[in-house]
Parts: sequence; structure tokens; C-alpha cells
Amino acid sequence: MSLTGWWRRARWRLYAPVYDRLASPFERGRRRAVERLSPTPGDRILLVGCGTGLDLEHMPDGASITAIDVVPENARRTAERAEALDLDVETRVADAEDLPFADASFDAVALHLLLAVVPDPEAVLAETARVLASDGRVSVFDKFVPEGTTPSLGRRAVNPVARLLFSDVTRKLEPMVAGTPLTVGTREWVLGGFYSVATLEPA
Ligand SMILES: C[S@@+](CC[C@H](N)C(=O)[O-])C[C@H]1O[C@@H](n2cnc3c(N)ncnc32)[C@H](O)[C@@H]1O
Repeated sequence: MSLTGWWRRARWRLYAPVYDRLASPFERGRRRAVERLSPTPGDRILLVGCGTGLDLEHMPDGASITAIDVVPENARRTAERAEALDLDVETRVADAEDLPFADASFDAVALHLLLAVVPDPEAVLAETARVLASDGRVSVFDKFVPEGTTPSLGRRAVNPVARLLFSDVTRKLEPMVAGTPLTVGTREWVLGGFYSVATLEPA
């Protein structure tokens, strides 16, 4: 693994003990994204890049939930949270760019704070589309630049450091989705317009 690849994963292991506190300002956006996903007790739900499992707090009882993260420490923390919440969750260590699941295995997929983090978001979306049922739905919650605009000078200036420490702040959702078998359903801006909640569905 290259040094960049190593750091890309190591940083999330480093942040894991304090992640819940770091992510607390995003709670309103996360809640909105789960509302848009509308998970129901009968759904097969996949949380991709689950982190410490904060999405679990908003999942319905009785759903069949699978959560994957490439960092074992995060998968472990998600399993602990599932136990504390008394939710039945299968946690796996896996790469979002190469999901270890059969085609059409899930009714709902959450991509929360992930597409701006991974090196190849298109690959994550292609894998998401593959494992999604034909009537399935996807929620995306992340920091994106609005389509039809260019990233501000400020965003471009801080991006090299932001990308190194946590995530890219110059990405747009629409070009990522174009070229995948998914289409953007709903879209709204949250948290001062810096973050966006969107739903994707099979095109
Ligand atoms: C910003 S955190 C978001 C965590 C969680 N989804 C949330 O909303 O709080 C990004 C997470 O993605 C995970 N991650 C990064 N690259 C990944 C990949 N290629 N496959 C799976 N998980 C990945 C990291 O380990 C980290 O837990």
C-alpha cells in the first residue's frame, strides 16, 4: 500500500476515539438524510463507511442492517453501538469500492460523509448501484459544491489540507452520479449550504 493509501485509512483509526464529538455538529444533516432514506423495519439496509455507527441511532427496530467500514476499529465501534442499542447489525470490514455483496442485496443504502472522503467516489457509486434492489434508494449526505458553480477560492485554498486531514471540499455530486446507473432524486442544502442531503435511485 502507498503512503497516501496508508494515511487515508490511518487517519480514521486515529480519529475514532473522538469521532462522535467531532461529528456532533452534523447531526441535523444526518437526521435529515435518514428521514429522506425512510428506512422501514422490513428493509435490508447497508451503511457504507459506517464510521462509529452514528447512523444506527436513527435506524428502525426490526430492520436488517449491514454496516461496513474499511477500518477495523470503526467496524468494531459500530458493532459495540449496535449492541448498546439492541439492534441486529452485521458489521464487516470491507472496501466501499469493492463491496462483498451479491447484486440487488439491499433496499436502502446510506452514503453519509463518504463520497468526499474516498479516492474514487464513482467506483463507490457503481458498487452501490450494483448491490441496490431495482426499487431501492440511496441517501447521500456530504459537503458538495453546487452544480453550475465553481469551487470558491477559499475552498480551493484550503482543499490540499482539508483533503489530507479529512475530506475533499471541492467535489460536486452530479458529475459523480453521471455515468452510473443512478440518478439524483431529491436534493437539499443543509448546515449553512455547505452540506447537501440527496437521494439517489436507479435510473
Ligand atoms: C467521515 S467518516 C463518516 C462515517 C459515517 N458514515 C458517519 O456518517 O459518521 C468516513 C468513514 O469512511 C470510512 N472509509 C474511508 N474510505 C473507505 C472505503 N474505501 N471503504 C469503506 N469505508 C471507508 C472511514 O474509515 C470512516 O469511518
